[in-house]
Amino acid sequence: MRPMTHTSAKQLLPVGNKPVLFLALESIAAAGLADVGIVIGDTGPQVMRAVGDGSDFGLNVTYLHQPEPLGLAHAVLIARDWLGDDDFLMYLGDNFLSGGITRFVSDFRACRPDAQVMLTRVPDPRSFGVAELDGSGAITALVEKPQVPKSDLALAGVYLFTPVIHDAVSKICPSWRGELEITDAVQWLVDAGYKVGHQIVTGEWKDTGSVTDMLAVNRVVLDELTSRIDGDVDSASEIRGRVEITAGARVRNSTIIGPAIITSGAEISGSYVGPFTSIGENCQISRSEIESSIVLPDTRIDGVLRVENSFIGREVEITASAAAPGVYQLVLGDHCRMRLG
Ligand code: G1P
Repeated sequence: MRPMTHTSAKQLLPVGNKPVLFLALESIAAAGLADVGIVIGDTGPQVMRAVGDGSDFGLNVTYLHQPEPLGLAHAVLIARDWLGDDDFLMYLGDNFLSGGITRFVSDFRACRPDAQVMLTRVPDPRSFGVAELDGSGAITALVEKPQVPKSDLALAGVYLFTPVIHDAVSKICPSWRGELEITDAVQWLVDAGYKVGHQIVTGEWKDTGSVTDMLAVNRVVLDELTSRIDGDVDSASEIRGRVEITAGARVRNSTIIGPAIITSGAEISGSYVGPFTSIGENCQISRSEIESSIVLPDTRIDGVLRVENSFIGREVEITASAAAPGVYQLVLGDHCRMRLG
């Protein structure tokens, strides 16, 4: 997600104009959980500013500081005192699950295995934890990022634990990437004969680690949008499909085809905004065409045909060049990517 992650916590990047982390917190609240400990590192102050005490989500949030990113099992280790001897859910803040976690939590409460994981079929499991099941469907092995995966069942970043996990976390060693892996801790439980249940994810799951994933999640979120036009749209504009135009946004002489969101303070003039596009606060889009994209707040796009499948950061300026036709004039920060047609 570079360069976005140079200035923003990955979990706070928006899809459908809402941070991925907020969607996670909403799922947690919907599952009936109230007390949330958010493990924070370098980007802690940003996360604390965005989530506050959690009351906006109906949650009671405590922040737990992890001094170094030493792994997910290490996060459990540093949360030990806060967790006490309670059962708990661990939810990776950059994971997106369209179906929420309510059924996952209620199944765990009904059967209470020692641990429960969520599995999802992926085309290339090599960048995830991968589970192997036996003929009866029981988990026999969990391997973190295997070179040669033995199945296509990846571990989604949502886990339920009883306090035996603390024992497991204290027994494992750091992996090749120098992290205490939660996958190894769960494997320790399997080896020690504890019961590790699982549920297969039925809806859409994504670990939002790339622009492609973010755009895919944006599509899923916008697909559930209901029309709502609270902003100011002139009679020369055409709005088609499910479009949300927040109060304070202005649309002039433009065509907006949903599903799309135009957020407060944004101004769209003489432009086309196509399906699956989220336009952030105070953006100005004029004499341009954009589709299937996420634009973060305070960005200006003027005289550009046509932007597609793009993730554009904050306070970016994309304008038609005053130089000769066919000449590009660029000021790009580190780790930017441009594909020119
Ligand atoms: C982590 C877990 C991995 C899991 C993935 C899901 O990977 O270690 O087992 O499949 O989250 O998002 P990481 O994001 O640390 O590479």
